[in-house]
Amino acid sequence: MITGFLHLHSALRWVVLALLLVTFIKAAIGLSNKSTDFGSQGKLGLFTMIALHIQLIIGLVLFFDGHWSEYTLDGVTRFFMMEHTPMMIIAIVLGTLGHSLSKRATEVRAKFKKQTIFFGLSLLLIFAMIPWPFMRNFGEIFGWI
Ligand code: HEM
Ligand code: HEM
Repeated sequence: MITGFLHLHSALRWVVLALLLVTFIKAAIGLSNKSTDFGSQGKLGLFTMIALHIQLIIGLVLFFDGHWSEYTLDGVTRFFMMEHTPMMIIAIVLGTLGHSLSKRATEVRAKFKKQTIFFGLSLLLIFAMIPWPFMRNFGEIFGWI
């Protein structure tokens, strides 16, 4: 059962990263072009936020399952407890702010700006906190999925 959640969490990472990247790039382009048409950008931000919330739920299941506390390789248990989980929660809060602050802003420029800043910060933090197989000793545990 928990293996299923682990695979889901691992696969959803690509969806989250792709949505965040597209939302961020399109928002940054809209901001720098001084575009006055927000178009479907609000919907895109909403989908990104929903993907983040689903990842949060799955992450919480993994966290409370506690299987990660049994890793015997140096630093891995500490990573999930002290780095991955808290930082991802902060990143998801930032992503949620990206959507809700931009929704509340009235001017199109402000909407693009909120999205660029908050989804951008969220993307950076998430990229840094994924246990990539090429980082530290994660390759020994997770391999390439
Ligand atoms: C622990 C779990 C979750 C937490 C703490 C959480 C938190 C939040 C918060 C704080 C907002 C308000 C954002 C705003 O200011 O507009 C929100 C909105 C929303 N969340 Fe979540 N959420 C969780 C799980 C989920 C899940 C599992 C889904 C979908 C599968 C989801 C879908 C949404 C949607 C659709 C909105 C409304 C966005 C809008 O229309 O503005 N959330 N959530
Ligand atoms: C967008 C955010 C997130 C991304 C992209 C992400 C990505 C990942 C990846 C790639 C793994 C390794 C799993 C594997 O390759 O098999 C992992 C493990 C894990 N994640 Fe996340 N994660 C995110 C958010 C969260 C959150 C919010 C929590 C907790 C609330 C969480 C808790 C965990 C735990 C506990 C593990 C270790 C699972 C185990 O081995 O028992 N993650 N995450």
